[in-house]
Amino acid sequence: MVATGLFITFEGVEGSGKTTQIEMLRKWLLAAGHSVLVTREPGGDPAAEAIRNIVLENDVAPRTELLLFLASRAQNVETVILPALTAGKIVICDRFIDSSVAYQGFARGIGRDTVAALNEFATGALYPDITFLLDIDPAIGLARQADRNRMEAESLTFHQTVRKGFLTEAENSSGRICVLNASGSFADIHFSIANRVLKILESRV
Ligand SMILES: Nc1ncnc2c1ncn2[C@@H]1O[C@H](COP(=O)(O)OP(=O)(O)OP(=O)(O)O)[C@@H](O)[C@H]1O
Ligand SMILES: [Mg+2]
Repeated sequence: MVATGLFITFEGVEGSGKTTQIEMLRKWLLAAGHSVLVTREPGGDPAAEAIRNIVLENDVAPRTELLLFLASRAQNVETVILPALTAGKIVICDRFIDSSVAYQGFARGIGRDTVAALNEFATGALYPDITFLLDIDPAIGLARQADRNRMEAESLTFHQTVRKGFLTEAENSSGRICVLNASGSFADIHFSIANRVLKILESRV
């Protein structure tokens, strides 16, 4: 099956504004008449959401953690993302392959290439058309949040390694990953994202 829609992912450390910007982008795209589906990782469908609860609420070993995220991703791709792309929708996913590389590959020390290869297996080699990396000092991102889950409760050093992992992936992504300064205003960040998406949509007409 060939995917015909547009696949957009958002990445970044905790509290960088992914969910906020996704909602702004979703509303903007809907107002322009597009059909949009928003999903999140880990999660997406009931089985993937059940895996989300296991991985975020239990103290699991790094390789277990990676495999659970990948299981959730495989399920989300198969049952939610691919069908929507095939139907021509714009799919926005809150975290995807680059989070596994940054968190488990870099910060948990499993290794970038191992995680990238497993990502490819889990997704059946589905890559986003564009990825927005909301880049911010993790100290600022974490300070924005009230409740913290297991990942968010990790040390600041851990989150700084995650940030570096994301930026290293962006440098080697041949332009797929668009890095944005996430310490700006809600409106400025949205404007950059909307402009970039508009250019992609125009180039496809
Ligand atoms: N540009 C911004 N300036 C100031 N505050 C912001 C900005 N963007 C988001 N916030 C605030 O920061 C908090 C975290 O934002 P959000 O939930 O969108 O981040 P996130 O990247 O989705 O976090 P998580 O990784 O935990 O899901 C929210 O309270 C949000 O209102
Ligand atoms: Mg969020």
